[in-house]
Amino acid sequence: MTSSEVTVDVHLDAADVVAALAHDAALGLSATPKWLPPKWFYDDRGSALFDDITRLPEYYPTRCELEILQRRAGDIATACPADTLIELGAGTSAKTTLLLDALAAAGSLARVVPFDVSEATLRAAAVTLAARYPGVTVHAVVGDFERHLHLLPGGGRRLFAFLGGTIGNLDPSQRAGFLRQVAESLAPGEGLLVGFDLVKEPIRLVSAYDDSSGVTAQFNRNVLAVLNRELGANFDLERFAHVARWVPEHEWIEMRLRSLEAQLVSLPGIGLDLDFATGEELRTEISAKFRRDRVAAELGAAGLRLAHWWTDHAGDFAVTLSFLS
Ligand code: SAH
Ligand code: TRP
Repeated sequence: MTSSEVTVDVHLDAADVVAALAHDAALGLSATPKWLPPKWFYDDRGSALFDDITRLPEYYPTRCELEILQRRAGDIATACPADTLIELGAGTSAKTTLLLDALAAAGSLARVVPFDVSEATLRAAAVTLAARYPGVTVHAVVGDFERHLHLLPGGGRRLFAFLGGTIGNLDPSQRAGFLRQVAESLAPGEGLLVGFDLVKEPIRLVSAYDDSSGVTAQFNRNVLAVLNRELGANFDLERFAHVARWVPEHEWIEMRLRSLEAQLVSLPGIGLDLDFATGEELRTEISAKFRRDRVAAELGAAGLRLAHWWTDHAGDFAVTLSFLS
């Protein structure tokens, strides 16, 4: 395989990343309560830790989604015989091959566009995809799916995929904005495939986000290491405990970092000094869980029609296929 078939568009270079992180950290860490947006988990170490999470016995979403795609990839390719697969938040693109195999078998596959904020992970995935699909153009895009969707390549018939339940990491208004933007970029016949984690017993949800081997705790604390490296902060990771809590009124899991003692942290990169009280919590992520009615309503509000709803045999996770309504 020649590398000539891999191109990489970078809409977020190192300087943009630091500027965006500085902006988000200044905003979130001076708020009460303190919070940070989740995309900052995914530096090289964070992406590797997330990959470990997907293999944890407690973390069911990846296995459930894999089961659905194994069973339904052919139906997806039939319902939307696209020549281009655009994967948002692709990560290592591990599950993507099922879709690509099905689209290739349907005879239409010409191009794959993995899109992610994490450049190193994306480049590695692009090389792997190019080797596995000779003759298929690999056009990787480094960007933020909340800011750069309009810069995605057009042409042909595209299937957008947003897997892993990552949509649940957006809050309801971010989700509405995201779905509207995707709908705006879709042409008739182009599809949107989304993985939604479903509401289930809180005990299973909490253990998926607070595993017994502590990998998720390391992943959560890694965002502090990112602030230390990029903004010269002096967070002591040992002084923050990982917290995962089910919030029934919102039907989401909330990830937090709890300060184990009263402490001062400085972020010279943004001229901010922070006070943490003992037990004070910094919110790092939500992971919303869904029911079919809400999914259909949110898609509908964005101008999208829920054409297919597929679940794993246990009904823990759903993959949906939508078109413009
Ligand atoms: N799709 C993979 C990875 C899910 S983890 C799977 O299903 O296993 C979420 C992925 O989204 C990570 O690779 C992360 O780097 C990426 N991501 C998170 N926020 C993002 C953003 N705002 N824009 C683009 N990618 C983002
Ligand atoms: N998209 C994943 C999810 O919501 C991300 C994730 C998994 C995550 N485990 C985590 C984010 C732990 C923060 C902390 O399931």
